[in-house]
Amino acid sequence: MKEAQIQYEYIEKAKKIVERESAKKGRKLTCCVNTFGCQMNARDSEKLSGILKAAGFVEVEEENADLVIYNTCTVRDNANQRVYGRLGVLNGYKRKNPDMKICLCGCMMQEASVIEKIRKSYSFVDLIFGTHNIFKFAELLVRMYESEDMIVDIWQDTDQIVEELPVERKYPFKSGINIMFGCNNFCSYCIVPYVRGRERSREPEEILSEIRSLAKDGVVEIMLLGQNVNSYGKNLSEPVSFAELLKRVEEIEGIERIRFMTSHPKDLSDELIRVMKHSKKICRHLHLPLQSGSTKILEAMNRRYTKEQYLALAEKIRKEIPDISLTTDIIIGFPGETYEDVCDTIDVIKKVEYDNAFTFQYSKRTGTPAAAMEDQVDKETVTRHFDEVLKVVQDTAKNRAGRLKGEIHQALVEEENDKEQGLMTGRLGNNMIVHFPGEKELIGKIVSVRLTECMGFYYLGEMI
Ligand code: 5AD
Ligand code: SF4
Repeated sequence: MKEAQIQYEYIEKAKKIVERESAKKGRKLTCCVNTFGCQMNARDSEKLSGILKAAGFVEVEEENADLVIYNTCTVRDNANQRVYGRLGVLNGYKRKNPDMKICLCGCMMQEASVIEKIRKSYSFVDLIFGTHNIFKFAELLVRMYESEDMIVDIWQDTDQIVEELPVERKYPFKSGINIMFGCNNFCSYCIVPYVRGRERSREPEEILSEIRSLAKDGVVEIMLLGQNVNSYGKNLSEPVSFAELLKRVEEIEGIERIRFMTSHPKDLSDELIRVMKHSKKICRHLHLPLQSGSTKILEAMNRRYTKEQYLALAEKIRKEIPDISLTTDIIIGFPGETYEDVCDTIDVIKKVEYDNAFTFQYSKRTGTPAAAMEDQVDKETVTRHFDEVLKVVQDTAKNRAGRLKGEIHQALVEEENDKEQGLMTGRLGNNMIVHFPGEKELIGKIVSVRLTECMGFYYLGEMI
């Protein structure tokens, strides 16, 4: 039997359990899915929600639900600390509702030390699983309700990609789509390759047929997701390049906008730039993580490009696609980083003129090569360097932001503005936000908006 079929049988079993528990309580069981971390986790959470809904749960926002699941992130330590802090709160809810179930999954659970700590100090948790067996959630749900003890099911890796399980999308008009899982790059600071496993690409036909059915369902914007989309398809039995995949996605009727995340500079091909340049649907936005502007640090990070190579790439992209918006990730405080290295990073920020940059303080992740490096930078120096870089990032972004003022752009209307009545919030192709007067019937539609005023990180506008 195919794995998906097995899981659908477990969904039927889960449904009976949920019916039984609901009857006992005299109301429907509620669930709350809370996501930490990146777009990949957000997409995984839609899969968790899909299964919970199919089993008969009603999803709520509040965490004092009958079942709470945390989809965790471990890329930096502060994400882990937030989970531990909130588990204490969940325990309080559980004392009031002893039937409550607490589940943990995602990247943080792939770390042995985390599991040890939860077993010891958070024994009220009911179910723990990891990133490789998320497709077994229905089965684990049933096992959890049949057992008194904490269930822990962590796999070290998998080559399985299970297709066609239920998904509950957060937005009716836009969706993420996994095109690959895992990462083979082993940047020396990064824990992702250890918790998400080796790179596996989905078959192009599976991806295209998922997108076709999303388009039929009213989705107009898609985001192709992978840790390193530029190496998509290299290990398929019939290799397909990422640029080729994009060309095929572009042909799908109903899809108006295509985004993707994340690109590794070392693998970004001329073919991709060409496809982007001639595309009517691929958004004029590229997230191109720099991490550091110092060639010495880049080498220690195992990024496999130099400062000069990155600058040349950014220049080439800007030349070919002048209206593109470039964003990036930067790490400050990597072992051995001196003020001179920080100045190199600042130099790149000024030369590339990013529209936005996510700046992180280096976080030591156990098991990564960088954690064992000698010259770790002290906290005070990191904070000082961080503040300086952040200021440059903000100034550059501010300079860039106003450049579209007065122009007419297409915006996908995403929601009502929660602060000001009568205003709608739309997203431009370059990922910036515009607020403009409109009706909520516009949600999910792409409209033309004149950008009348720039307010720093967003625009005010009027529909035309
Ligand atoms: N410390 C700080 N930032 C990190 N990132 C990944 N690992 C670490 C770490 N150990 C950042 C990188 C990556 C982003 C998703 O998170 O900048 O691009
Ligand atoms: Fe981590 Fe580097 Fe892979 Fe990105 S490319 S997930 S930073 S190892």
